[in-house]
Amino acid sequence: MDNRELPGGPAAGADPGARARQKAGLELLTRFHIVDKIAKIYDPGNDAFQTQGRLLFETLTAALAAEEEVSLRLRHGTLLLNGVRLKFGVGTYGMFKSVIEEFRARNLESVTFLRGLTIDELFEFMSVFAKREKTGADAFDGLKADVEAAGLEHFELEKLAAEEIPQGLHESSARLFFLSIVHLKESFARDRRNEPIKISTTRRLMQSIYNHIVEDEGFVYGLTNIKNHDEYTLNHSVNVCLLATALGRRLGLSRAELVDLGMAAFFHDLGKTETPLEILNKPGRLTDAERDIMERHPFHGAEKLALLKEFRRLPLRAIHVAMEHHIKEDLSGYPRYFKKDDINLFSKIVKVVDVFDAITTKRIYRAKTFTRAEALNLMLEQSGTEFNPVILKAFVNMLGVFPIGTLVALTTGEMAIVQDVNPDAKLVLRPTVKLITDSAGNKIDGEAVDLAERDPETGRFRRTIAAALDPGKYGIEVSDYFLSQAAGAARPEAGA
Ligand SMILES: [Fe+2]
Ligand SMILES: [Fe+2]
Repeated sequence: MDNRELPGGPAAGADPGARARQKAGLELLTRFHIVDKIAKIYDPGNDAFQTQGRLLFETLTAALAAEEEVSLRLRHGTLLLNGVRLKFGVGTYGMFKSVIEEFRARNLESVTFLRGLTIDELFEFMSVFAKREKTGADAFDGLKADVEAAGLEHFELEKLAAEEIPQGLHESSARLFFLSIVHLKESFARDRRNEPIKISTTRRLMQSIYNHIVEDEGFVYGLTNIKNHDEYTLNHSVNVCLLATALGRRLGLSRAELVDLGMAAFFHDLGKTETPLEILNKPGRLTDAERDIMERHPFHGAEKLALLKEFRRLPLRAIHVAMEHHIKEDLSGYPRYFKKDDINLFSKIVKVVDVFDAITTKRIYRAKTFTRAEALNLMLEQSGTEFNPVILKAFVNMLGVFPIGTLVALTTGEMAIVQDVNPDAKLVLRPTVKLITDSAGNKIDGEAVDLAERDPETGRFRRTIAAALDPGKYGIEVSDYFLSQAAGAARPEAGA
C-alpha cells in the first residue's frame, strides 16, 4: 500500500537483507535511468552510452546471477524490483518520477530482463526503449513490435493495467511533500543570507496540504514514513507540519486555523539555523555548554519569526510555537526562563507530533529508533506530565493503532488478533487479543489474553505487540475468527 505503513509495522531497514536489496535495487534503477537519458540522444556507439551501458549491464548480470529474471514494475505509482517496493527519498524522488513517467508514456507496466541477455542486446533494447516516444493508446504495442522486430529475446514487456494510467492523488501528495521540503530548504537558506522568507508561498503550500489531508488523510501521514537522514531538520519539519495539521483536524480546528497551525509547525525549528551543525549532528551526549546552545533554538526561532518582513502574513501563534514547543504539559522543559501559567494550544499539538517524529527517526546520537507503536506506548507513559492527555489520546486514535480485527505479532513470537480495545486511555496499545499461533508459528485455537497483564515476578508486561501484520500475507482470514466466536456464543452453554 505505497507508503501507508501500518503503525507498529516493521521498522524500515531493520532487516539487513532488505537494506541490501534496496541498495541494489536503487543502483539498478539509477543505471537504467542514466542509460535511458543518454540513449534518447546518442546511439550505442557513443562513448557515454558505452560506459554507462556497460555499468547497467554489469549490474544486471550480477542480479541475474542470483535470480532467473529481473523485473522492474510500475504499480500504484511506485516501482517494484522483483516484487520489492523501491523506496524513494528526497535525493532520488526526481529519478523515480522520471522512470515512472517513461513507463506511463509507453503504457508499460513492467520490463523483465531474462538470464542469458548479452551486452549488445541490452544496448539495442535501451535504444529502442528510449527512442519510442510515441505516447497514447498504442504506445505499448508499438514498443513491443519494435523489440520483436529487433529480435530481442531476453526481454518481456507487460502492458499497464487501465487503473494505473490516471495520475492519482497519491502522486500529487508525494509531490507536495517534496515541494514542502524544497520550500523549507530555500527558506532556511534565505534566512542564513538575511533575505526575507516567502511567507505567502508557505501559506499556499499549507492550503494545499490541508486539501490533501481532507481528501486522503491516511496517505498523507503515511508519507511521514519517509525519513531522510541527511537533511533531518527539513524532513522532520515537514513531517511535523503534516502530522500537526492532521491532528488539528481531528481536534476540530477550522480550515483557517489549520492553515495557521501548519505554518507554525512548519517553522517550529527555524531557530536551528543558528545551532552549529557539529552540535546538531553530534554523536553521543552533548556537554552542558553544548546543550545550552542547543536549547536556545526556541528563542532564536521566535525572534526570527517576529522579525520577518512579511510578518503580517504569519500567524502570531507561529511565534508561540517556536518558543514553546519544548515546554512540557507540567511546564517543565525549556526554555527554562519561561514563566507562564499555560502554553498555547498549537504548541501543545506540535509538542506531541514533534516528539513522535523525532523518536521514530534514526539519529546518530540516539541508540534506539522506536517503531510507531513503541513510540506511542512510550509517550502514553508521559501522558499528563510531558503531553497534554486529550491531544495525545486524539493522536493515538488518529494513527488508528490496532483496531479490532488487526492481526498482530507479539514480542513472544505468537500471532494474535485484536479482540477488544482497552478502555483505559493509557493502555490503548494493550488490547485484549486472541492467540492464533504459538511462538513456533503453529496455528492454535488459543485463549484470549489481556496485553495489560503483567508478570507478577518481574512487574513487566507479559506480552507486547511488536507489529501489525497483513493477514493476506499469512493466509489468515480474520473474519473467520469472529464468525467462529459468534457461532460459539449462539450455542447453549453445556452444564450451565
Ligand atoms: Fe525543537
Ligand atoms: Fe522539532
